[in-house]
Amino acid sequence: MNILVLVSGNGTNLQALIDAHYSSIITAGICAVISDRPGIYALERARAAGIPALTEEPDKGLSKEQRRIEHSKRILERARNYKADLIILAGYLSILQGELLQEYMGRIINIHPSLLPKYGGQGMYGERVHRAVLDAREKESGCTVHLVDQGTDTGPILLQRKVPVLAGDTAESLAQRIHKEEYIAIVEAAVLMVQRLDKDTEKGN
Ligand code: GRF
Repeated sequence: MNILVLVSGNGTNLQALIDAHYSSIITAGICAVISDRPGIYALERARAAGIPALTEEPDKGLSKEQRRIEHSKRILERARNYKADLIILAGYLSILQGELLQEYMGRIINIHPSLLPKYGGQGMYGERVHRAVLDAREKESGCTVHLVDQGTDTGPILLQRKVPVLAGDTAESLAQRIHKEEYIAIVEAAVLMVQRLDKDTEKGN
């Protein structure tokens, strides 16, 4: 089984997946890593692990809608070429749409650094999420891994991990606490999905 990982940043979640693969916790292989911007550290991590790493930048000359459709098409072509069974969005900031979502329905997962449905949706990423949690004086936050559907951060939830929000927390300290849980969550979710897809294959679906 092949996993395609999409990234936009540092790639610490990608690293958790790579490490889990090399310690045989995740039995499927990572067939490729694709970023939506050049020069990010996640690409280095992939290359250091001997995984094909490439960039598919959204075309800034197109309208927002067209840009998303065209970019998603290129990702779909790559996914087909690499014979990906599962796609993991490990800190991917571009929004995917169209045929890719149909063809890979139930086989694309995303990790988000809050307890969805709270603090999700367009524009809710990075520090903004944690700031919003602190501004609302929440007692707890965490991370969510969910299946990707047509919406942003709206698909069925696979699993969540919680952390407390502590007195004196900054967006940065909260993000760090959540990050540690993300590494566990993303690996657990990948294992779960590989098992699920394996079962589907046995049933001949
Ligand atoms: C994580 O917080 C993830 O939840 C969010 O983007 C961040 C990616 O971090 N979607 P990294 O690139 O894996 O270090």
